[in-house]
Order: sequence, then C-alpha cells, then structure tokens
Amino acid sequence: MQRGSRWLSPSEIKAALKNSDTTLMEMLRFVFSSVLKRRYLLILNVLLLLMVAGLNFIIPQFTKNIIDQAIGQRSVNELISQVVWLIVTTIALGVVNFVSTYLMQRLSQESITEIRLQTYYRILQQDYAYFQNAKTGDLMVRLTGDINSLQNLISSDTFGIVGNLFTFIAVLGFLYAQNWELALAISLTFPVLFVIIRFFRSRIREAFSKLRATSSRISNQLQATLTEIELIKSFTTEQQETANFEAIVAESNRYQLEATRLQAIFNPLVTLVNTIGVAIALGVGGYFVIQQRMTVGDLVAYLSYLTLLQDPIRSFSRLLNVFQTAQVSYDRIKEIMAYEPTIIDAPHPVAFPSPLRRGIQLTDVTFHYDMGNVDALENINMMIPIGQTTALVGRSGAGKSTVVRLLTRLYERSGGKIMFDDVAIEHISMKSLRQHISFVSQEVTIIDGTISENIAYGTPAATEAAIWN
Ligand SMILES: Nc1ncnc2c1ncn2[C@@H]1O[C@H](COP(=O)(O)OP(=O)(O)OP(=O)(O)O)[C@@H](O)[C@H]1O
Ligand SMILES: [Mg+2]
Repeated sequence: MQRGSRWLSPSEIKAALKNSDTTLMEMLRFVFSSVLKRRYLLILNVLLLLMVAGLNFIIPQFTKNIIDQAIGQRSVNELISQVVWLIVTTIALGVVNFVSTYLMQRLSQESITEIRLQTYYRILQQDYAYFQNAKTGDLMVRLTGDINSLQNLISSDTFGIVGNLFTFIAVLGFLYAQNWELALAISLTFPVLFVIIRFFRSRIREAFSKLRATSSRISNQLQATLTEIELIKSFTTEQQETANFEAIVAESNRYQLEATRLQAIFNPLVTLVNTIGVAIALGVGGYFVIQQRMTVGDLVAYLSYLTLLQDPIRSFSRLLNVFQTAQVSYDRIKEIMAYEPTIIDAPHPVAFPSPLRRGIQLTDVTFHYDMGNVDALENINMMIPIGQTTALVGRSGAGKSTVVRLLTRLYERSGGKIMFDDVAIEHISMKSLRQHISFVSQEVTIIDGTISENIAYGTPAATEAAIWN
C-alpha cells in the first residue's frame, strides 16, 4: 500500500459509485494516457513481468527433475547440475524482480507527476472567485489524497499484481494441460479463498477507517480543551470534559477490538483454506502417484505451483480495492479538470496601452458577487487621469476594493465599460494587464522565502539594485 493514500470505507465507495457515471474505461484512459506516452518504458516493463512469470514457472521444474531424474537414476552429476540451475534461476528471478520493480516505480512516478502537474496548473488557472467558494482543505485533499489513490492504479505494486496474474494464468494453464483432474481439485479452494478475502478485507478496512476517525476526534478534543483551558476552569467543567473524553476513548477502543477480532479470524481462516488446498493436492496427487499416473517429482512441483496460485488471489482482491478507491478519486479530480475558468483572454488579445496617455475610464460599471445578495457596485462612472494621485474614499463595504479587483479582472464586471485610453479591458491580455497594475492589498501577504524574494515576487529578473530600490 502506498504511503499517504487515503482509503475510503466500503460504504463511502458504494455511495460514490452510485452517484457516479464514470465508467472504468474513462478513468483508465485518463490515467493511462500519461503511461502510454512512455511507450518504451511500458513495453520494457511488460517484458520484464513476462520474464518474472516465466522464471516463477520454471523453478519448480528443477525440483521435479532432482526428485525424478537425479534421485531416481542415482546420478550425482545430474543432481549437481540441477541444483546449480535451481540457484542460478532463482538469482536471475531476484535480479529481474529488482529491475522490474525499479522501472515500474519510475514509470508510475513519471506518469503521476504529469497528472499532478496538470491538475495543479488547472487549479491555479481557475477564476479568483473559484477560490473564494471552494474550500482550500478540499482542494488540498484532491491534490494529495486523490492523486495518490490514482497513483495506486499505476504503482509498481499494481503492475506487480498484473505480473502475478500472468504467472497465475500461465501456471494454471500448464497444470490443466498436464493433469486436468488434479488441477481441478486444487482449483476448488480458490473461489472460497477469494470470497473469504473479499468479505474480511472490506470489514477490516471499515473498522480501521472508523478507528482513524475516532483517533482524530481524540486529538481534536485534547487540543480544544487544552487551548480553552481558561473557559473550562472558569465554568468548572473539568469532570464533564473528562466524561466526554472517556466516551470518545471508549468508542475508539471498541473499533480497535473489532478490527483485531476480524484480523484474528481472517488470518487463520486463510491459512486453513490454503492448507485444505494443499491437503487436496496431496490426497489426489498421492493417489495418482500410487496409480503411477504421475511421478513424486510431479507432485512436489504441483505443491510449489499451488503456492504460486494462492498468492495472486490475495493480491487480486487488493487490486479490486485499488480500482474502487481510484474511481472515487477520479470523479473528484475530473470535477476540477472539467471546471472552466470564465475570465480568460479574448481570442486575439492586445498588449496594455503603455504608457497610458489619458487614463482609466469607468462607465456605468456594475458588479454583483456570486455570494452576495445585492450589487456591490451600481452604475459607477469615473475617470482616473494619468499623472495624478486619485484616492477612492468611502465607508467600509462601499466597494473600493471591488473596483480594484475589477481593474485587474480578478472579477469580471457584470455591466458597463472599463477603458484604458481607447482599449477596452477585455481586449487586453490578462498577463499584460496585471503586469501593468501594482496592487498593495489591505491584507498583508508574505510568501515563504526571503525578504528579497518577497519584494521581487512576479519579477524573477529583478536585479539586486532594483530590489534595494
Ligand atoms: N467575496 C465576496 N463575496 C461576496 N460579497 C463580497 C465579497 N467581497 C466583498 N463583498 C461585499 O461587497 C461589498 C463591497 O466590498 P469591498 O471589499 O469592495 O468594500 P471596501 O470598500 O473595500 O471596504 P473596506 O473599506 O472595509 O475595505 C461589501 O458589501 C462586501 O460585503
Ligand atoms: Mg477594501
């Protein structure tokens, strides 16, 4: 599981999937469009996964050869040669596994970085008003948690599971071709295993997500009471607050116990089903060996293959979770990508008429905030001439800051005209407009960095002399 991923509870997933018209294919197209751009890396990865599957498949064959041929024919040379091959192949498997994990992680990171940058740029492009309405916390979650759960879709982990599936198909196909009765017998436990894993996984996950929720309530309660200690002391609510705290802790303990109980049943149950699988293989296989329809070496190889088959079932169930969580996240990211900024450049924008010769003329300018219920500005007419200092004076809330926001097109006026000399504001390119208007806000903003970086913000080419100035 990736660090920082945000697992949703099964009920959250169900609710979200019900409301979503996202098809799986659409999400995959979105995510894999950036993967497909790295075609060579992708092809290399698929080849490596096939090699892993092939090597996994070959290794039990050496065991079979050792038992049937070397031991069977009492040939020490054959024994040595088979043991050496076994070791060489296992080393090769390790090396291929290493290279493939590394390259898959690279593919995954490069692809997700592209998606992350796209989403980030998209958010920054939105209208100013978007940020007034959207919650910053929500945007943060989308840029971190939701992107991470999309990353899980193309993580090296997920590619590894796909590799496991290659192995699964190859091995199962081989077993059925060799001895379909035995293959069928050992396949019997697979559906049971899959159902058990699905059943418990979702419940364990739900218990843990409730547990996490209560944990954050515990720290909220601690923080709230410690910072409001004056209030608590003066109202003597110490006992009451302790009772509140006790209730939350009790709830947390309950979820912890529930999670532990589920896990305590789950693990032995999986072991039991797996062991039953082995027992069936030994029983049916042993019978075939007695009947001389297969060799002891075959039987031992079958047992190794059985383990190779059981692992992918576990990881396949995990893959389903990754898909479900990613689909919910994709919906939330799609919302961002689908949201079009409305304040944009005209088709053929012109540069700011610099230097201005007459000034700025506002004619019948009207503006209404989305959230407001009255016009913030109503039929404003004024001329701001060049070469003079013009002050806009008015009571608080009169609309002074609003005028400035309209001049930089942070908001778009709802009516009237704003002209810089003879050029209407909407014809000027936004970049040029904003580069020609300096704005000192009444709310002081300081970005993270040095004082000189703060002064030079937006003018990366500023010289040191200019900054001092
Ligand atoms: N983002 C917003 N959404 C909705 N209404 C807003 C928003 N910003 C300002 N307003 C409203 O628009 C009107 C004008 O606000 P503005 O900030 O332009 O006043 P101001 O003249 O700059 O006031 P002050 O002197 O307090 O800075 C006010 O009624 C204010 O409540
Ligand atoms: Mg103001």
